[in-house]
Amino acid sequence: MNTKNKDIPCLITIFGATGDLSHRKLFPSLFHLYQQENLNEQVAIIGIGRRELTNDDFRSQVKSSIQEHVKDTKHLDKFMEHVFYHKHDVSDEASYQSLLEVSNKLDTEFNLNGNRLFYLAMAPKFFGVISDYLKSSGLTETTGFKRLVIEKPFGSDLASAEDLNEQLRRSFKEEEIYRIDHYLGKDMVQNIEVLRFANAMFEPLWNNKYISNIQVTSSEVLGVEDRGGYYESSGALKDMVQNHMLQMVALLAMEAPISLHSEDIRAEKVKALKSLRKLEPEEVRQNFVRGQYDEGVIQGQKVPKYRGEDRVAENSTTPTFVAGKLTIDNFRWAGVPFYIRTGKRMKSKTIQVVVEFKEVPMNLYYETDKKLDSNLLVINIQPNEGVSLHLNAKKNVQGIETEPVQLSYAMSAQDKMNTVDAYENLLFDCLNGDATNFTHWEELKSTWKFVDAIQEEWNQNEPEFPNYESGSNGPLDSDLLLSRDGFKWWDDIH
Ligand code: BG6
Repeated sequence: MNTKNKDIPCLITIFGATGDLSHRKLFPSLFHLYQQENLNEQVAIIGIGRRELTNDDFRSQVKSSIQEHVKDTKHLDKFMEHVFYHKHDVSDEASYQSLLEVSNKLDTEFNLNGNRLFYLAMAPKFFGVISDYLKSSGLTETTGFKRLVIEKPFGSDLASAEDLNEQLRRSFKEEEIYRIDHYLGKDMVQNIEVLRFANAMFEPLWNNKYISNIQVTSSEVLGVEDRGGYYESSGALKDMVQNHMLQMVALLAMEAPISLHSEDIRAEKVKALKSLRKLEPEEVRQNFVRGQYDEGVIQGQKVPKYRGEDRVAENSTTPTFVAGKLTIDNFRWAGVPFYIRTGKRMKSKTIQVVVEFKEVPMNLYYETDKKLDSNLLVINIQPNEGVSLHLNAKKNVQGIETEPVQLSYAMSAQDKMNTVDAYENLLFDCLNGDATNFTHWEELKSTWKFVDAIQEEWNQNEPEFPNYESGSNGPLDSDLLLSRDGFKWWDDIH
């Protein structure tokens, strides 16, 4: 089950070690794991980059990134003794020989038992070639385990994802491939499963008899920043929906697994994703809304429109917002809409799930049209982390009138300081060979199929962009998506 081993010797090779992800997330997470003694002394980390750097140069860069991101830097110098730099051209097969030599040397020096973890924090076009050369150079012929950790995007549609997968499978087995979806490393996303399956009170209600709809939102205040080049070819549908949003839907919709073993949980998620109704073109038009941000004012600052961002085409049709209504065709969920919504340059940074329950069978409290408030279960994922239950109770006045009350659990400020980063969770899982919180190929296949149908329909006609102001809740059509079913987005609720 989930008891994790802290003493796993390993050589961790990070491709793209001078990049943003490595500096902001990977090195601080590895250091924190080391500091917590979740990584032991039998660990060596090779940072791979194209630049000419000495070990000392690299170490001082990594050190200052860690100092920037981690408050307590006790044992930092000791940790740095485990970090090495290797200049390497990933497209040059010959240069893998010297990487092999360094790897073997460190293996002996740190007593790593031949365990190797390769982390590809690189542009996706290099994923396939690195994986091929790791094998042809002999780096994957090792006495210990070999694992490949790969960042998103995994393909840009089903066909390209299939090609990439085939290429990776020439060097690694499915169980050796760890496809990152960093949302699965977030504590409160992992909590969805625990809340559902460790409490007797939710599971009996978790179906179409009692739930009227489920809403999943991930909104950002930030715009596309300096990632215009990448984002133009991806957009919100491929950047957020295909992975993070559908992963959260799968966790909310899946059946209870027979155990917490990775394969049992993933089997249930795959089943849930396979039950997503594939959309016909007409349904895409009806049930999916795309948007692109216009200029606006956020926190008192004027911000540019998407089409005015760096490396974005002046007439770009890339969506920065997607809202959609999903239908899950199975016994549990028939008739319950799952609404998803994600966008950049929105009013607030919020990752949240709202489960709205159906009305009580008969309203005893109001003879007029006044309705009781809906019961809601709110799962706050970020930036607030916690859970709240919205109920009706008696108002403190003569006679019987109701008022909404809230039972809340929020992580305290103290807990929050210790909240582990998603990457730390995922790196630890990967070292332990626990693939539960990584995306299986079968999950990817279903999510790409679903997203491809939307993209194909969208390719048929040009959207009228921009269609939402920066700092708003997205285009009006996103509200209409729910109001036409008699619902509304539960904004500003905690
Ligand atoms: C990434 C996307 O996967 O997730 C980004 O590529 C997005 O565009 C980010 O900003 C959001 O992550 P989080 O954890 O801040 O919600």
